[in-house]
Amino acid sequence: MAVPFNRPYLTGHEAQYLEKALANRKLAGDGTFTKQCQAKLESLLGSGRAFLTTSCTDALEAAALLCDVGPGDEVIVPSYTFVSSANAFALRGANIRFVDSLPDHPNLDHSKVEELITERTRVIVAVHYAGVACEMDSLCALADRHNLKIVEDAAQGIASSYRGKSLGTIGDLGAFSYHETKNVIAGEGGSLHVNDLRLVEQAEIVREKGTNRSAFFRGDVDKYGWVAVGSSFLPSELTAAFLLAQLENIDRIQRRRLHLWNAYDAGLAALAKRGDVQLPTIPNYASNNAHMYFLVCDSLDTRTRLIARLRERGFGAVFHYQSLHASRYFKDKHDGRPLPNADRYTDCLVRLPMFYELEDADVERICDTVRGFFGGARV
Ligand SMILES: Cc1ncc(COP(=O)(O)O)c(C=O)c1O
Repeated sequence: MAVPFNRPYLTGHEAQYLEKALANRKLAGDGTFTKQCQAKLESLLGSGRAFLTTSCTDALEAAALLCDVGPGDEVIVPSYTFVSSANAFALRGANIRFVDSLPDHPNLDHSKVEELITERTRVIVAVHYAGVACEMDSLCALADRHNLKIVEDAAQGIASSYRGKSLGTIGDLGAFSYHETKNVIAGEGGSLHVNDLRLVEQAEIVREKGTNRSAFFRGDVDKYGWVAVGSSFLPSELTAAFLLAQLENIDRIQRRRLHLWNAYDAGLAALAKRGDVQLPTIPNYASNNAHMYFLVCDSLDTRTRLIARLRERGFGAVFHYQSLHASRYFKDKHDGRPLPNADRYTDCLVRLPMFYELEDADVERICDTVRGFFGGARV
């Protein structure tokens, strides 16, 4: 593919930091690189405590443990999301109640959440699709009224905000991904952000296999042992060394991605005006971290043909998420409510190439190809 969908960007300092981590002869987690990454994340996000994890999936699984979700509890999750947003809670035996997306954005439809709340509901998972905030005021009000926890799945949400507050710092807990397709990367990696500070000590325990090893290393206790149920969510110093090089360059990465995002948006605006496609909307309460540029076609057939046309021309366009309520694992467990917007994004959404080293000329050629496909709308 001449222009792939994604090309992981190296800032230039990764190898140097990896060599330093090797020279330190401290390769397991929670060394100096892990601490530096966590401090950087805490200052970037502005509040709360950051814990590096091996993935966002692991951060979500840690969050499910911290919310003390158990068999029979209910968790509300958008259907149009990555499996991990729901699987983390299903692993604890929770029943998942899927909610539809908004008509004009794949984020969950906050107006449809309250009708799903029962005596057994424990958690709402707010997935900030494409790094664009969910409508958090209404979700937080519901959580207060019904005594629920909010876990923000901010896998795609680094360096983005809701009414000026960083994503991942608004709910009780937030989960970020540094998978190679994200804005800042570590190959595989993630972090758990703890905003309810009463959960910090438990988060340390859950992340360290259910032991109070972190307290032991700090000198707070004279031996460590098994104190709760947990798992191995702690990444090695090699992951942290790589991630630090990325976090130190986040402003530069963000500037470039925003430039590319705006170029796509300008290049495709005429198609949206004509009604050929739906383009991403950024509500006034949300910022844009340019994680993803996507468009929504009018049908599965149009999408299939558009992706084929882009691929013929050498551009790696892709689709993703299949509505989870209709998945092979879940369909027999779903309560039968139609979730038409989730299904429409499943069938009709296309993601265009988006990565730091994408050239302006590539974006122009991709926009030309999309416009040509729809019969040449003027820019
Ligand atoms: C919304 C969402 N949640 C969770 C994840 C899982 O992230 P990770 O690959 O770091 O486990 C992803 C992955 O892309 C995602 O898109």
